[in-house]
Amino acid sequence: MLELTNINSTFNLNNEVKIPCVGYGTFRTPADVAEQAVKEAIETGYRHIDTAAVYGNEEAVGKGIKDSGIKREDLFVTSKLWNTNRGYEQTKKAFQETLDRLQMDYLDLYLIHWPANEKQFGDDAAKINAETWRAMEDLYNEGKIRVIGVSNFMPHHIAELIKTAKVAPAVDQIEVHPGWPHTEEIKYLQAHNILVEAWAPLGGQGAKVLTNPTMIQIADKYQKTPAQVCLRWILQQGILPLPKSVHKERMISNQNIFDFELTDEDMRKINLLPNLGGQCADPDEVDF
Ligand SMILES: NC(=O)c1ccc[n+]([C@@H]2O[C@H](COP(=O)([O-])OP(=O)(O)OC[C@H]3O[C@@H](n4cnc5c(N)ncnc54)[C@H](OP(=O)(O)O)[C@@H]3O)[C@@H](O)[C@H]2O)c1
Repeated sequence: MLELTNINSTFNLNNEVKIPCVGYGTFRTPADVAEQAVKEAIETGYRHIDTAAVYGNEEAVGKGIKDSGIKREDLFVTSKLWNTNRGYEQTKKAFQETLDRLQMDYLDLYLIHWPANEKQFGDDAAKINAETWRAMEDLYNEGKIRVIGVSNFMPHHIAELIKTAKVAPAVDQIEVHPGWPHTEEIKYLQAHNILVEAWAPLGGQGAKVLTNPTMIQIADKYQKTPAQVCLRWILQQGILPLPKSVHKERMISNQNIFDFELTDEDMRKINLLPNLGGQCADPDEVDF
């Protein structure tokens, strides 16, 4: 089935860049914790780190990466353009500020964090997304970003974007976890050769995914934890999970997902779970 054998086995992106199949998340990791957490995550084996301008921890993430002693080219680093910086010039400026905070001279992956939506921007939404994307393409063509992508884009946002795009998005990072499977969106993205990354793969802070009785029952069957079952369920769909933990033992246990395989029946059982919480935000409805 899956040819992935560890967290640094890779998926191939649409421009042939390879991306480590599990990334380390840093949302809600405060700046005063992030340096140590990222250093520890790298020490435990992660080579793919996910941050964003809006997390307020890019500087600390950059320091953690430096402290690790691992060469820049052996890491895969993602950041994201925040919503207040959409538009051609602003995107270019915000990107440079991200690089400065991270103390890097290129990014592996840069994402538009959320699409501009019609609720906030009316008929201008599509134009704003197109202009933002044009800046991403220019940064990509200048060699400052190895891969460009989007986040929280639903199929209709992608369909609109690719009308004017010269470079197709390689990644869409969306919320995916048991109880929030996004099945139709994933089908669309995979049919368009866009790699899906799962944010909040464990349901995020405070969701009831890890204490759900079906998840516990399935985890017991494989002698695994519900968190490991979440991550395996994601990987088996060809999706890249981004688990976040500031605890070393969890950083390690979230990597131990390559020595078991969920049966089709267990995959289905998880697909059918009801909403168990999480952010579950509709990108067309958010007003941030
Ligand atoms: N693109 C977007 O809009 C977007 C939105 C949200 C998140 N993200 C990205 O996706 C990453 C993951 O999402 P997330 O951080 O919201 O949620 P998550 O990774 O699903 O869950 C993180 C929560 O689970 C806990 N946890 C981690 N491993 C565990 C384990 N083995 N057993 C029990 N609890 C465990 C963590 O606590 P401890 O830290 O205390 O261990 C934390 O409270 C983010 O960090 C960020 O990089 C992107």
